Amino acid sequence: MTLLVTGGAGFIGSNFIRDWLVSHDERIVNLDKLTYAGNPDNLEGLPDNRHTFVRGDIGDRALVADLLARYAPRAVIHFAAESHVDRSIEGPGAFIETNVNGTLNLLEASRDHWSQLAGRSREAFRFVHVSTDEVYGSLAPDAPAFAEDHPFAPNSPYAASKAASDHLARAWHHTYGMPVLTTHCSNNYGPHHFPEKLIPLVIVNALAGKSLPIYGDGQQVRDWLYVGDHCSAIRRVLEAGAPGQTYNIGGWNEMRNIDIVRTVCELLDEMRPRPDGQAYASQITFVKDRPGHDRRYAVDARKIATELGWRPAETFASGIRRTVRWYLDNPQWVARAQSGDYLDWVTRQYANRRAATGSAPASLHQAAPSRATAQAAREEVTA
Ligand code: NAD
Ligand code: TYD
Repeated sequence: MTLLVTGGAGFIGSNFIRDWLVSHDERIVNLDKLTYAGNPDNLEGLPDNRHTFVRGDIGDRALVADLLARYAPRAVIHFAAESHVDRSIEGPGAFIETNVNGTLNLLEASRDHWSQLAGRSREAFRFVHVSTDEVYGSLAPDAPAFAEDHPFAPNSPYAASKAASDHLARAWHHTYGMPVLTTHCSNNYGPHHFPEKLIPLVIVNALAGKSLPIYGDGQQVRDWLYVGDHCSAIRRVLEAGAPGQTYNIGGWNEMRNIDIVRTVCELLDEMRPRPDGQAYASQITFVKDRPGHDRRYAVDARKIATELGWRPAETFASGIRRTVRWYLDNPQWVARAQSGDYLDWVTRQYANRRAATGSAPASLHQAAPSRATAQAAREEVTA
């Protein structure tokens, strides 16, 4: 038996494949375009006889049809996407191309494949569409967490493109009866996370003596989930989820960005103290906010708990410690991930975000600001 995984060279997809190959005998065919976020290093050490890597685009109909015909997977697990909100603000086109048109192509090719199956294989076939809690929009501070029936209100181009793909996935079940299941997960963190996202960015910048950029006032709330827990939830949905259903996945762990960053700083103070004895938190810099920045996400993960018996295994304290340890132990992975496009991105992205004081540019290449500078910036932002 085989699974077709898309986007398996990225952060979550590669964690999923690693975990899967440890706990299952089935082979994985991994279709990934290797965009800037796809990293062959994430696949190092995977057994060749059980993991087949195919470099290609989910939008390539002939290629996807060929893979489905050749390997006859019993399921498609669809991770491939453009996934970074800030990049979607800079250039939404690629998000529509991959997240919407690419998903459409994958659904259509899978429908062709599924409709030719018969009996038990047809019944057992699954298409798991991996989505995000960001499609629900932003929550007020005291609003209840997102349940599966929360209306969609995507605010960023990224969230809008994922919401569009979710609608396609839903319609392909409703209209054609395809056995599609959709998951909406909250913010993940863990090993192999590309250092453009908050947690890995803070770890690598802290170690390099660079600024730790906090957008706006740092009071935005996300519901953080360890990536291994997201992967176990997807395995559970594949195993026992009902076709046509959606499942929200979250860590029951709402935290403000500023607290996330301070926690990472404290762990680094303990595990790799700065040579000058200063706290890493002194590198925190408040910078211009993200346009349209969602204030709060929180996931109500009761449905997957009660119907499928899934709960996260990792606490934030244990998961973030494992994560920081992994980055400390894997400097070569970090160095390679930071080459090429990465440098262009951080230069563009952060050079444009002047420090919230309006005085100093919050360039990542600046020397670490003093605690007093960060405090002054924060007071101005929150004033
Ligand atoms: P990522 O950016 O790390 O990886 C995406 C992968 O998809 C990369 O390997 C990339 O090369 C590949 N890819 C992109 N376009 C492609 C295309 N056209 N054809 C084939 N491959 C392509 O993303 P991630 O963080 O691992 O997210 C995986 C999925 O999970 C995405 O669908 C994302 O929306 C969803 N998700 C992510 C989070 C999170 O916190 N990271 C939370 C909830 C949901
Ligand atoms: P991110 O990791 O980009 O995930 P998402 O936008 O999908 O939630 O960002 C997490 C939070 O951290 C989000 O509120 C934006 C904020 N953030 C910063 O404050 N500074 C940064 O440099 C980055 C990348 C994100």
